[in-house]
Amino acid sequence: MTAVPLRAGPSVTRLPVDHDPWPLPEPAGAPARGGFTKYLVPEVVFGWGALSEAGFAARRLGARRPFVVTDAGLVEAGWLAELAGHLADAGLRPTVWSGPTPNPKDAEVAEGTQRYLESGCDVIIGLGGGSVIDAAKAVAVVASNGGHILDYEGVDKVTAAIPPTVMCPTTAGTGADVSQFAVITDTTRRLKATLIGRALVPDISVTDPRLLTTMPDDLAAATGLDALTHGIEAYVSRASGPLTDVHALHAVELICGSLRRTLRVPGDTAATTDMAQASLEAGLAFTNAILGATHAMSHQVGGLLDVPHGVVNGVLLPHVIRFNARAVPERFVPVARAMGVDVSGLPADVVAEVTADVVSRLAADLGCPSRLSQLGVTEADVETLATTTLGDACLSTNPRDADRADVAALFRAAL
Ligand SMILES: [Fe+2]
Repeated sequence: MTAVPLRAGPSVTRLPVDHDPWPLPEPAGAPARGGFTKYLVPEVVFGWGALSEAGFAARRLGARRPFVVTDAGLVEAGWLAELAGHLADAGLRPTVWSGPTPNPKDAEVAEGTQRYLESGCDVIIGLGGGSVIDAAKAVAVVASNGGHILDYEGVDKVTAAIPPTVMCPTTAGTGADVSQFAVITDTTRRLKATLIGRALVPDISVTDPRLLTTMPDDLAAATGLDALTHGIEAYVSRASGPLTDVHALHAVELICGSLRRTLRVPGDTAATTDMAQASLEAGLAFTNAILGATHAMSHQVGGLLDVPHGVVNGVLLPHVIRFNARAVPERFVPVARAMGVDVSGLPADVVAEVTADVVSRLAADLGCPSRLSQLGVTEADVETLATTTLGDACLSTNPRDADRADVAALFRAAL
């Protein structure tokens, strides 16, 4: 097998654009296993009560004045006040911007950047879910690189170092606190623009499972399905390797064992901690192995309709599993085992089908829709969604090549 070249940047990510800095080995139909892998991770502070370390984490990065990015819900839940107390304990008084909305928009990033530059702050702290953390990263990118956030769409377009960042996730699904990804809604083209690159890896992730306890059930369900999708897509990705596999499978095991319990048994701290760890491990897996067709397609739906990212993933993932099973059925056997399925005596293609069914059952148990039409997608949207999917960086590491007709067929199957 041709070795994947080892170099800076996501070395096996191919963007379907004229500039293709990280070409895949040919043919592109097989996973790039057996080549070199690299593994980027931030410093991670993990555990019940870890938010108390946030001030010291910012101090380690040289903070004299932190800029906190959060949202109104977290302010109301009291987490901002607690964080401010911990920062005060470390001698820090923050400037706060709570402007990002779910599926953060390009104009919001411009507003946040202006606030950051006017504030004289020197470290950015994200306190929130994936939307808040992505917005915090985007502010950091534009503050140090100039221009407009969409100038940096694609792989390794961010060339100047961004301000130091500390990320404190408040949902169990994003992975953005450890990832080299940021996803921002392009309000003109009505799609989500994906930015990928080592410059986007936060310096420190402070993961405190306690912060998950104020999540509404629908957010816990959606973000849990997102984390499951991260684990599965990372495991079957063309860029997967032994260092990502272990975290991807463990994330799947934790999610299938604990996600339902976090909703049915409020106050179950063990299940909540499992989900925080699952989100973290899925993030460690997907930031290095990248993702696949589910995310490439989901980003387009999210840009068009501003619907919850994890819910869209939960609808699309079973269809993408069945599609990918034609190319790499054996990769779904460990996934099914991690889900708790007895796979003994079953051929791999049957196991893959069972894996897809387990995902559908979990989404249904969580009260999530099973069809894209329930989210507002119509037949009239399919061709546009299929076209824009081909421009998403996540499609490049899907284990089976998918052309426009394949993607359109997947969207129609999920309608
Ligand atoms: Fe995701």
